[in-house]
Amino acid sequence: MNESKTPLLVANFKANQTWPDLEDWIDKVSPVAEKFEGTVIISPSAPFIAAASQKLKSLNSQIKLASQDISRFEGGAYTGEYSAAQITGLVTYAIIGHSERRRNFAENDKILAQKVENAKKAKITPIFCVENSEIAISQGIEIVAYEPTFAIGTGTPDTPQNAQAVSQKLKAKGDFIILYGGSVTIANCRDYLIKNILEGLLIGSGSLDPNNFITILNSASN
Ligand code: PGA
Repeated sequence: MNESKTPLLVANFKANQTWPDLEDWIDKVSPVAEKFEGTVIISPSAPFIAAASQKLKSLNSQIKLASQDISRFEGGAYTGEYSAAQITGLVTYAIIGHSERRRNFAENDKILAQKVENAKKAKITPIFCVENSEIAISQGIEIVAYEPTFAIGTGTPDTPQNAQAVSQKLKAKGDFIILYGGSVTIANCRDYLIKNILEGLLIGSGSLDPNNFITILNSASN
């Protein structure tokens, strides 16, 4: 098992940033991440994973890498895909089942279970996203991100009270670390960090500006 130190802060960059943007982000955030008691994870677009891994190594950075997805296939003739085995050693984590993938790429429970299995075989820890506590959670999951779809990219986060209630329902299903995601900002980030209940954040647009992210990092430290 990958021993992730909490709180876990995951910056999901989606299809944003050029390589110079990402380099600048890493240069700015790395020295701050150094002093953080939890884990900082960045999830850049797939073409930047190898270069980001190299850069983080050269800086001796504490920041860990996650892929935004992983192929359901183990490898072979699947143009455009990248397999879990191909990014072993480059990433520590993989986001699996993000609602944008479920919705835009028709990913269902069966496909997600295959992705989780491939990630585990490649020693990559899945960060499994669910929009509520009823969604099926694949076998072998340690980290679950509760991300209600109404809150993603909308500026309308869930209430901390409801997020906490959902987290408790999820925890009744397994010994998961639960993260909250959906319109997390500098102003509200602390409300979603509740020891042993909500132990991390998955941050999209609020993570893109490195200075913004540093402020979130500092808030999560206090
Ligand atoms: P958001 O995205 O912070 O921009 O709402 C969160 C996510 O999709 O992971």
